[in-house]
Amino acid sequence: MTTNTPGSKVSGLTVLIATVAVTIFNMTVNISDAVADDLMEKRVNELLAQMSIEEKIGQMRQANAGYGHPPEYLGDNLRAGELGAILNLVDVETVNELQRIALEESRLGIPLLVGRDVIHGFKTVLPIPLGQAATWNPDLVEKGARVAATEAASHGVNWTFAPMVDVTRDPRWGRIAESPGEDPFLTSAMAVAMIQGFQGDDLAAGDTIAACAKHFAGYGAAESGRDYATTNIPENELRNVYLKPFKAAVDAGVMTLMASFSDLNGVPATGNSFLMRQVLRDEWGFDGFVVSDWDSVHQLSVHGLTEGDRESAYEAATAGVDMEMAGKAYDHIQDLVADGRISVDVIDTAVRNILRTKFRLGLFDDPYVNPDEFPAIANEHALQVAKQAALESIVMLRNENGVLPLQKDRIESVAVIGPLADAPYEQLGTWIFDGDKSLSVTGLEGIQNLVGGDTEISYVRAMPTSRSRADVQFEEAYEAARESDAVVLFLGEESILSGEAHSRADINLPGAQAELVREVRKAGKPVIAVILAGRPLTLTNIVDDVDAILFAWHPGTMGGAAIADILFGVEGPSGKLPVSFPRMVGQIPIYYSQKNTGKPPTPETIVHIDDIDPFAPQTSLGMSAFHLDAGFQPLWEFGFGLSYASFEYDEIAASAADVRVGETITISAKLRNSGDVPATETAQLYVRDLVGNVTRPLRELKGFKRVRLEPNEATRVEFQLHTDDLAFFGRDNTLIVEPGDFHAWIGGSSNADLKVAFRVVD
Ligand code: NOJ
Repeated sequence: MTTNTPGSKVSGLTVLIATVAVTIFNMTVNISDAVADDLMEKRVNELLAQMSIEEKIGQMRQANAGYGHPPEYLGDNLRAGELGAILNLVDVETVNELQRIALEESRLGIPLLVGRDVIHGFKTVLPIPLGQAATWNPDLVEKGARVAATEAASHGVNWTFAPMVDVTRDPRWGRIAESPGEDPFLTSAMAVAMIQGFQGDDLAAGDTIAACAKHFAGYGAAESGRDYATTNIPENELRNVYLKPFKAAVDAGVMTLMASFSDLNGVPATGNSFLMRQVLRDEWGFDGFVVSDWDSVHQLSVHGLTEGDRESAYEAATAGVDMEMAGKAYDHIQDLVADGRISVDVIDTAVRNILRTKFRLGLFDDPYVNPDEFPAIANEHALQVAKQAALESIVMLRNENGVLPLQKDRIESVAVIGPLADAPYEQLGTWIFDGDKSLSVTGLEGIQNLVGGDTEISYVRAMPTSRSRADVQFEEAYEAARESDAVVLFLGEESILSGEAHSRADINLPGAQAELVREVRKAGKPVIAVILAGRPLTLTNIVDDVDAILFAWHPGTMGGAAIADILFGVEGPSGKLPVSFPRMVGQIPIYYSQKNTGKPPTPETIVHIDDIDPFAPQTSLGMSAFHLDAGFQPLWEFGFGLSYASFEYDEIAASAADVRVGETITISAKLRNSGDVPATETAQLYVRDLVGNVTRPLRELKGFKRVRLEPNEATRVEFQLHTDDLAFFGRDNTLIVEPGDFHAWIGGSSNADLKVAFRVVD
């Protein structure tokens, strides 16, 4: 495959001309890129001019190539120029053969896009995206996506349907597993990192693949967290929250976007021209292409927006869906054009967007893949990145009396108990079509490998699955706990309980797991819960029955090795929550960046249902925005995560009292490791705009930094804040920076209390 400079995306000729341009005029690389882009656009237009309407519509089709051998007719479709892309084919020989047919046997020789859901790894599986977000480490996330891209590319894939950048504040939603959580700033950082990892610096290189930011837009706000359910998101909220990561993805050069399945304010996203024409094209200038979700063009009629596929094709194509995934509705486009309902310009624009992407990927130069040119699958580097990602994703939620880390010299025997202790497939999580469970290191194996030589390890699965209510081995679990010095309980959800169409209304530990905790507790030994799950769980009912909690998400291939290292202190936990953990499901949506309301609650003024004085007047209940049975705070807040060290924040300062619009202010604070082990802390910057022409959130994340400190070492963490970072969409939905008063906090979670004030002035 081509590994030239970006100028080689179009052809050898382009490289020459672009280079000459640089040499003669001694101008920046942008000039050469511009020349290359012009030439590419010229080739796109030349090609388009030769295409029949059938061939154009062909480029707008993506067919399912099946999960095994693709159907024979795909070859015929390609010969006839009726297909622009396929998905779900990872057999490299067959992919190469299809590319050969496309190039050599179709009239115009247009190569094929080969899509696949490479969501958090290919054969080597990284933690679920929600877990990756818990690392707060974009560099590491980029490395993970690079590993995934390389493994996938070696199988003929040149386009992944990732990153998913749907902000979500509802842990009932099964797809929260695929998202970077509740916050637009963190989600944007993760989106950019993944795009950079997938697409690399040279899109035409053999080991880079096109990324796809999805699902455009609002999918994460599905009512009651029920997958595919309606979303109603006011435009202001849409722009200030849900669209931000998509904008960041477009600015980072993402090649494609996927339209969401969901209904947005009455117009399903797949037929929503506000999203795809006004915002994406006119405002953001996106020049890649938009693919529908699976059969979502047809579903416009199921939503009740249209009467059938012909009208659905009309709505989707005119709204800006350039390619239909796995559906037949676009078969109607030819008629719609013939009848004058759809102008040929609409089709030309869509096809241009698709061809441009193929040129940028270098597919016209060389679409073939030689697996021998790739590093081995699941090589040492891939496994090391997967382990590091798992290590940094684990969030310690509780550690009473310093029960963790377990001291090898004091713990002679450990009982490893639970349905997820030795479950190589379950720990991989959702969306792992190609994940290889035979590579998994389970928690039990990780512990055995690390301390098995000196420590006696007993293992009781206790429950066949995380959902089991019957067939439980509580007695054996109790006995194992009684005979050991410590208990490590692997609890949570197996992978099928999260992901697409796998939403839950009750997000407690499923099955009889809470009973298992209590049974084991009776043995009187230290109990450490390691929780593997695709979403935040409500752990209120077990938190007091365990001494420590490590929340490991679905940690992927190397999960067990990472967990063992943290349990025994080879590494310390450094993950921070990318999403709030509710006390109970009735608090949802609960997120740190809520608005103040006119009646803000405080811990002092709220009352608990058990403490209501029967003779007190109604007003004594506090009259503020809280739940009588749950207060107003989550069990663990966004950004929270404990360490084996402890960190102190102090001396917060702003570089000036005022910052002029268009300028930068520095907010800094002293951070000290006051513990007795080296450790990594993620310092977080939050800002509140006190008065706005639309009300502003109580706090918004504006920066974060991972800092490694030795015991007693201190440093000053600094955040540069440009006034553009304080911009928001105001009452008329335009982006504004308003002069006025701001507060900034620096600390270890969204509850940080170290505050400084500053003003933005004209
Ligand atoms: C449906 C999902 O919503 C989407 O995220 C995925 O990429 C496609 N199916 C393709 O598998």
